Amino acid sequence: MALDRNYKQIQLSGHHITFYFYYYKKRMTTPTEYQQRRERLMAKIGSGTAIFRSAPMAVMHNDVEYIYRQDSDFFYLTGFNEPEAVAVIAPHHEEHKFVLFVQPKDLEKETWTGERTGVEAAKELYDADEAFPINELNEKLPQYLKNADKIYYRLGRDRDFNNTLLQHWQNLLRVYPQAGTGPIAIQDVGTILHPMRLVKSPTELEQMRRAAAISVDAHNYAMKFTKVGQFEYEIQAEIEYMFARHGATPAYPSIVASGANSCILHYIENNRQIQANDLLLIDAGAAYNYYNADITRTFPVSGKFTPEQKIIYDLVLKAQLAAIDQIKPGNPYQQVHDAAVRVLVEGLMDLELLKGDIEEIIKEEKYKPFYMHRTGHWLGLDVHDVGVYQWGENPQNLQPGQVLTVEPGIYINPNIKPVEGQPEVDERWRGIGVRIEDDVLVTAEKHEILTAGVPKLVDELEE
Ligand code: GLY
Ligand code: MN
Ligand code: MN
Repeated sequence: MALDRNYKQIQLSGHHITFYFYYYKKRMTTPTEYQQRRERLMAKIGSGTAIFRSAPMAVMHNDVEYIYRQDSDFFYLTGFNEPEAVAVIAPHHEEHKFVLFVQPKDLEKETWTGERTGVEAAKELYDADEAFPINELNEKLPQYLKNADKIYYRLGRDRDFNNTLLQHWQNLLRVYPQAGTGPIAIQDVGTILHPMRLVKSPTELEQMRRAAAISVDAHNYAMKFTKVGQFEYEIQAEIEYMFARHGATPAYPSIVASGANSCILHYIENNRQIQANDLLLIDAGAAYNYYNADITRTFPVSGKFTPEQKIIYDLVLKAQLAAIDQIKPGNPYQQVHDAAVRVLVEGLMDLELLKGDIEEIIKEEKYKPFYMHRTGHWLGLDVHDVGVYQWGENPQNLQPGQVLTVEPGIYINPNIKPVEGQPEVDERWRGIGVRIEDDVLVTAEKHEILTAGVPKLVDELEE
């Protein structure tokens, strides 16, 4: 069989084994791209050594396991999706610039918890210069640290591993006076790697488009499916069914919030029965090949907004469009949020839900009882993706390849308490919650809305 770029053939113990990786069909990141990422990191850390720890095996209760999900930094650089692993990047090492420590093959354990790649195949399949069983870490790691001038590592959730690494560093510091060489500092590897992750490659964008397209289909399907009298979980089921049909999973717990539940930002109980004249807020997104989408739509279940719902909805939509309009290369990230806040505050003032001097209301955040969260976040391998939003007083300017969400809202909790000096909220507004969220790619010209396929104009939402 001809070996094309979809396949990888390796030789193990004298036998040829072909691994069928459908990189292109499944639009997965290719081994070459992982290698290019490691090379970019190496160029930046020079004579340092970077260490990455896999995500810990998640345990639900007793010994019931969740599906494993690799740490995003680890995955970004290796594509390796198993727990109990360590990746070492040591550009200054003569031979072993990329080393993997992995779980060895163990047929008995694999019968229970699934196939392991094993040491030999890990080296070949993931293009490591060397691979070792994870239980040899303490013995083998010092050779990759002792000539480094710095260790690049992100202190993580695995406290034991943090301590292991600190112990190795301490051992080297102890002999520093004799050796006159070795790492003299630890730097957060995120400071190097996360700016890389913030700008998505064409392959990454292809996978993000796929996650967005699946999410768009699911939202459109849910909108058609929803009827008065259904329970919120029924709509959640339809959305997640659509994800699963396309080989995707929920990127985060789906929020299906009807009536006043829409005023609770992280409402995930999804167990209320939908009433006539309710708004339904759905915040749900698919994770596909590790890449995430994040969409919110709010619509009238009966097919018609009440006058108050429509006024609030129009205002949030206007704020969202104004915020999206700020997205172009060179504009500060912060400007997106500022644009949304200004439109929301102006609108709330027109409705006499806020009063006073607009600049003071914005500066002192007197709008916060109605709008208490940021207007968005970076999106990528993590839903709240890595990357800095503001460099102290200096802006993070948008650049092509970044993906961010834009998700303003107004939440008029039935028990809302305005800040001192602000008007009481009339009963007719209470219980209305609206959020509209899209995923936007910064392009060379301006931007592209990846999730534009779900309707959000009033005319489109009313029957
Ligand atoms: N669904 C999580 C968020 O919107 O940030
Ligand atoms: Mn969301
Ligand atoms: Mn979001």
